[in-house]
Amino acid sequence: MTSAHGHNQSSPADVDRKFQRDWLRQLLLRHAHRHPAMPPDLRDTALVVAPMVDASDLPYRLLARRYNANLCFTPMIHAKMFVEKPGYRRKFWKQGTPAEDRPLIAQFCGHDKDVLLAAMRIVEGGVDGVDVNCGCPQGIAKRGRYGAFLMEEEGGDRIVDIVRHLSSNLSVPVSVKLRILPTGIEDSLALYERLVDAGASMLTIHGRNRHQKQMATGDADWDAIRRVVELVGRRVPVLANGGISNMDDVRRCLEATGADGVMSSEAILEYPPLFTETNVESTNYRRTGPGRLRMAVDYLDLCKVHPPNDGGQGSGLKCIRAHLHRFLHADMQRHTSLRDAVVKTFTMEGADKVINMAREIYDACEHDVGDEQLSWYVRHRVGRGDHDEGRGGEEEEDASDEEKKDASSQEDEECPCDVFGEVCADDGDY
Ligand SMILES: Cc1cc2nc3c(=O)[nH]c(=O)nc-3n(C[C@H](O)[C@H](O)[C@H](O)COP(=O)(O)O)c2cc1C
Repeated sequence: MTSAHGHNQSSPADVDRKFQRDWLRQLLLRHAHRHPAMPPDLRDTALVVAPMVDASDLPYRLLARRYNANLCFTPMIHAKMFVEKPGYRRKFWKQGTPAEDRPLIAQFCGHDKDVLLAAMRIVEGGVDGVDVNCGCPQGIAKRGRYGAFLMEEEGGDRIVDIVRHLSSNLSVPVSVKLRILPTGIEDSLALYERLVDAGASMLTIHGRNRHQKQMATGDADWDAIRRVVELVGRRVPVLANGGISNMDDVRRCLEATGADGVMSSEAILEYPPLFTETNVESTNYRRTGPGRLRMAVDYLDLCKVHPPNDGGQGSGLKCIRAHLHRFLHADMQRHTSLRDAVVKTFTMEGADKVINMAREIYDACEHDVGDEQLSWYVRHRVGRGDHDEGRGGEEEEDASDEEKKDASSQEDEECPCDVFGEVCADDGDY
């Protein structure tokens, strides 16, 4: 039998695998009723909210799920702290997650297979899969021997051993989110295949290497992802990550890579309805979905029911502030008063004031939601000439020093694992 993506189900050599190749497709179809507006041809395609420290928190995931995100990852959870520190654990996991927050994959970081197993066992009964972070490129990951650096430890033997240990001891699929090795795609392919041999049930490939971060992020290599699909795609689902900013990109990426789904991070953070047909060529790049202020309002409403720092996997107001910043980034470029208000948001009342201030600004300038375009996601592309050509719209006048200044002042937020480190210090929870 052939899946919608053209991959045969498990090859004969894989009949003994704990999870057959079709597990992801079956999972998506079981939950498809939650997404009545999903284009029919994408019902069994994974449209994924990436794991994001202080950003793929519970209230944010619930918001994105309203707009066709049919699979979400938790933020990276530090396995050792999760096992050892009750305060940290409470922030990430109280009594599981609400039914409407499924399917959900919990992502962990660590380098000790027994600690990772102990952490994953705590959530095993309440998630649809667990994932090992092999993508974080930051210094804190190097020091902690996790993230992208784990791919290179002991020539890959350590991560292969971890995956073998986890997949043989857990009752849910074990997946790995990986970058491309700095030595190139050939070495990477050899490692990815070893991980599948060791029992990995899915790979997410972020089509960049660990040197491609912040101002050097650059384009994701979809050709490399296609090579991964060609190599292991008959055995396990592969998700493509990197460079997805609207539904045109989703379809182009699926076509170019043959992946089972796409994962978005920065762009969907800014605009949670990204997996709907808005800001695409067929709408002349007009925003046809709800506006960004609506997103901020709805997110805050969800936070009141599901506080991010109480089982919601975010660091409270700091996490909320960061979301307001992404949602309203375009407005903050033009209105310094709004920017100051976001930066100084330390209470929920303060967050509500930000909303009121944005409403007043919109009223005064007769804001048109149809003109809205991504602003935060494209901040590193400004000046590279790969954005906005022929699109018109509000961002053209934003290609300015102000935006670049803003990007540099946000370095903390672009540096996921440093945010994580900072959270540990700030919250005093640990
Ligand atoms: C705020 C933020 C937090 C992130 N946290 C994580 C994380 O916890 N785990 C992880 O594997 N990747 C993390 N990432 C990386 C993203 O998951 C993703 O791989 C990367 O941003 C590339 O996707 P994009 O081009 O759609 O932004 C984070 C990215 C951002 C912007």
